[in-house]
This record gives sequence, C-alpha cells and structure tokens, in this order.
Amino acid sequence: MERTFIMIKPDGIQRRIMGEVISRIENKGFKILRAKLFKPSKSLIEEHYQEHREKEFFHELIDYISGESVMIMEVEGESAVEVMRLMIGNKDPKLAAPGTIRGDFSNEKTQNVIHGSDSIENANREISLWF
Ligand code: CDP
Ligand code: MG
Repeated sequence: MERTFIMIKPDGIQRRIMGEVISRIENKGFKILRAKLFKPSKSLIEEHYQEHREKEFFHELIDYISGESVMIMEVEGESAVEVMRLMIGNKDPKLAAPGTIRGDFSNEKTQNVIHGSDSIENANREISLWF
C-alpha cells in the first residue's frame, strides 16, 4: 500500500467541485486517511512548491493558493502516487485528457483544481510538511 498527498486547490473549492473530486478518489478504491480544509500560509505554500521557486510562474502560483481555502488529503491505495497522477491529468490544459480531473474541470495552466505528489519521495515529504 502506498500513500500520496492530494490538495484540492482554491478554484476547486470555490467552484464547489470538492465532493466530485473526493468521490472520484473514493470510487477508484482509495482510502482517505486524513483530510483538512483550511487556509494555508504563504510560507507553507512556498515550501511545498520550493522546486519551482526560480520559475516565472512561481509568484502567480503562490498568490493563487496562499490565503485561500484548500482541502488537503492523505490518500492510500495500490500505486496511489502513479494512479492519482493519471486521474489528475496533465498540467498542460491542451494535454489534460477528458476523463481526468483536470481534463474534465479545468482549461487553465495555473488554476487546475488539484495537486498530487509526483513520486513516493515527494509524497512522504509533502505528507510530513502538511500534516
Ligand atoms: O501540478 P503538476 O505537478 O502537474 O505540475 P508542476 O509542473 O509541478 O507545476 C505545479 C503547478 O504550478 C501546476 O499544477 C500549476 O498550478 C502551476 N503552473 C503554472 O501556473 N504555470 C506553468 N507553466 C506550470 C505550472
Ligand atoms: Mg509537480
């Protein structure tokens, strides 16, 4: 059994599709071990996205998330990291396939509904950071 870190981003909360996203995770057979709905600090978001701190989109990304409500989840199941990434879909709106969360609910490169860890190592880091 593997664990991954999932965050429903502010646009997902504001558009009231939190339940839809949670249903997809549960319908797939994954178990939500912990969850929290809250407004993270700017420093927490910066730490979470530290790998992108030199990118041109960094400040836009931090401003979009910090101070807004997000739902964070620790999700467990078989190949949870890889399977959740497949269910989330590509970050490029043109490549986010229908049937994926981003493909079905977003056409934006920044406001793309959901985050999921991209490796087991990052999943462990992110779960420790957020919970
Ligand atoms: O979220 P994911 O791991 O799929 O993509 P990423 O490359 O790690 O980027 C993290 C987040 O930064 C994305 O989910 C977008 O919200 C944002 N981003 C952006 O605003 N503009 C880009 N050109 C790339 C990413
Ligand atoms: Mg990423």
